Amino acid sequence: MAGDGLWYKDAVIYELHVRGFYDSDGNGAGEFRGLTLKLDYLSDLGVNALWLLPFYPSPLRDDGYDISDYTNIHPAYGTLDDFRMFLDESHRRGIRVITELVLNHTSDQHPWFQQARSSRENPRRDWYVWSDSVERYKQARIIFTDTELSNWAWDPVSKSYYWHRFFSHQPDLNFDNPAVREAAWEVMKFWFEMGVDGLRLDAVPYLVEREGTSCENLPETHDVLKYLRRRADETFSEKMFLAEANQWPRDVRQYFGDGDECHMAFHFPLMPRMFMAIRLEDRKPIVDIFQQTPEIPATCQWGIFLRNHDELTLEMVTDEERDYMYDEFARDTRAKLNLGIRRRLAPLMEGDRRRVELMNGLLMSMPGTPILYYGDEIGMGDNIYLGDRNGVRTPMQWNGGWNAGFSNADPEQLYSPIISNPVYGYQAVNVESQRRYDHSLLSWTKRLIRLRKSSRVFSRGTMEILKPQNHRVLAYIREFGNERVLVVSNLSSQAQAAELDLKRWKGSIPIEMFGGNLFPPIGDLPYLLTLGPYQFYWFRLRRL
Ligand code: BGC
Repeated sequence: MAGDGLWYKDAVIYELHVRGFYDSDGNGAGEFRGLTLKLDYLSDLGVNALWLLPFYPSPLRDDGYDISDYTNIHPAYGTLDDFRMFLDESHRRGIRVITELVLNHTSDQHPWFQQARSSRENPRRDWYVWSDSVERYKQARIIFTDTELSNWAWDPVSKSYYWHRFFSHQPDLNFDNPAVREAAWEVMKFWFEMGVDGLRLDAVPYLVEREGTSCENLPETHDVLKYLRRRADETFSEKMFLAEANQWPRDVRQYFGDGDECHMAFHFPLMPRMFMAIRLEDRKPIVDIFQQTPEIPATCQWGIFLRNHDELTLEMVTDEERDYMYDEFARDTRAKLNLGIRRRLAPLMEGDRRRVELMNGLLMSMPGTPILYYGDEIGMGDNIYLGDRNGVRTPMQWNGGWNAGFSNADPEQLYSPIISNPVYGYQAVNVESQRRYDHSLLSWTKRLIRLRKSSRVFSRGTMEILKPQNHRVLAYIREFGNERVLVVSNLSSQAQAAELDLKRWKGSIPIEMFGGNLFPPIGDLPYLLTLGPYQFYWFRLRRL
């Protein structure tokens, strides 16, 4: 597993919820022992890193992002020993493990907050952000617009207001206090020492508040991250920070620092533009966002994704683009949540296998480390009638039997109902049935991942976007060392032809990577390709 320490660049990450993956003890919710039993499935799928949603003790009012003890395991998910066993078993299979570090806030049930609110004199008081009026930091926006009216909440115990950027039961920690920074480092150290390979830094733009600003991306916030990175580098090697900063590319760029802050950051603005491009049948949104994406330090990497455990966020688009996305992807308004859409990939693509494949083909060939969301490899559906974001967190569908093979519990006992409609329900969509067929989405996804991992050109290469006249076709060259790959994708629902200017690679032979077949050599004339609806090609360019 060792190498140059940049394992996260060559990773294919799979995001999952321990609670939703496999329930081996029949109590209705998944746990670490269950997940460990499914590691062979994940290894066979080809992913080499897992990102786990929060599994710490928590009242679960934000599905675990409301932590009440940072260095333990929620009893419903097992024990620290179970976690260690899971970690060892993952590492044995060459799979790295990324966990959540929710630094910005705790649960209001955390003993730190309980002490802080107990009296104004308590030594922990200054661990949180307090005020006697709601007039402070008025320029900070509200993130959970569907539930919160203010970023201040009244604490009846100490008779003052506390600051929270998310739910009001998640008070923000005060990172101006050095003791809080120390506590954050101790938590980080605890998990790294145990063997965790990477941490997703939840909600990092909001660590510090300053009057007269948006309270996002402040220099003081970057100081905190640089401090934590320095401590991590002094003590450990090959650990990774992944920043969750839902911001514009120029602001996210700051989270990489000079290679001395976060190793990775999600590319939030790219994601909705991939959906826009396929709907508009036009490459423009994707090309535009790459043009606005700055260079990043050599040791850093973007994290790219189609869907995750949250709503498909539309914070990083214009108002007009957001309206377009709602019109096209959330005609049933129940699908809307906050500034986003709570749906999974397959329903967003109206169950169209070709579109699902194309989106995954883009994801696996664009610059950055791809992140798959559990269940999307079999085309799972969602349930927009469940509250909050729960509709995209339903149990994994393993087979067509009792509780989809997820659990032996009584169906009523499950933490969430299973998807059961005739189109996406577990009898139609499950791992067992897809494992049997070479042409299932699961088998296809496995091949795609294998191909992606076959060359570092995808994980480390540069990207040059070509500009064929036909704007329904997106084409780019990825290049790393002596290797070159040409990716050509038809974003439209109809057959298209495109003429590519490949003069620079004259004399090379394109080899189609899925089948290994040779295409005509590149000559002086523009290279003509025809593509069926939503079809895409990956060509290795071999010099003669
Ligand atoms: C997570 C959400 C969570 C929020 C508050 C986010 O960025 O992805 O699921 O609700 O942080 O912790």
